[in-house]
Amino acid sequence: MKFKIREMKPEEYGELENFLYEAIHAPEGGVKHSRDILKLPELQLYTKNFGTKPADDCLVVEIEGKIVGACWVRIMNDFSHIDDETPSLVIALYPDFCGKGIGSTLIKTMLTRLANKNFKQVSLSVQKSIPKTKKFYERLGFEVVGEVLGETELEFVMRLKLEGKNFA
Ligand SMILES: CC(C)(COP(=O)(O)OP(=O)(O)OC[C@H]1O[C@@H](n2cnc3c(N)ncnc32)[C@H](O)[C@@H]1OP(=O)(O)O)[C@@H](O)C(=O)NCCC(=O)NCCS
Repeated sequence: MKFKIREMKPEEYGELENFLYEAIHAPEGGVKHSRDILKLPELQLYTKNFGTKPADDCLVVEIEGKIVGACWVRIMNDFSHIDDETPSLVIALYPDFCGKGIGSTLIKTMLTRLANKNFKQVSLSVQKSIPKTKKFYERLGFEVVGEVLGETELEFVMRLKLEGKNFA
């Protein structure tokens, strides 16, 4: 599948909520959350006024002119917050595009970008009930550094040290 990775344009920031919704999808067999969940203040943190904080950065995957995936970072006091120098990362693709290697390419592009900007580390949180996503992050070198109660369930906090790493 031919895809292009590029920066998200400011006029597209409204689409971030769609990808946040995909990222917090119910685990397999679970009840899918209503989109109202996106109004919770702890989830608004990820998208509100995106582009106004210095570390805000978003890459998207475009296929045939449409955005099908996004990976963004922001320094914020979210579930995976480590300190005020460490960006938190979110990645999600629409379901039809998962499992084709696109997510790996997208996140590696973002990790390289963060390393080039001299960020020392990056963090994220992942629901304990979706082990295959945890595996995806472990393959990239992320390690569990803690646990947190997320918006609906327990989550692992994972961290990746960026110094001296090559994500090509
Ligand atoms: C997690 C995600 C970004 C991975 O991107 P991807 O393009 O599907 O992943 P790749 O094809 O590059 O790599 C495949 C690996 O991703 C993992 N994976 C996680 N969720 C997956 C999914 N829904 N479908 C397929 N693979 C998935 C598996 O470890 C898989 O490895 P395996 O084939 O050995 O099991 C993507 O699947 C996704 O957006 N999933 C739904 C939203 C989500 O869970 N976001 C993260 C919340 S913390």
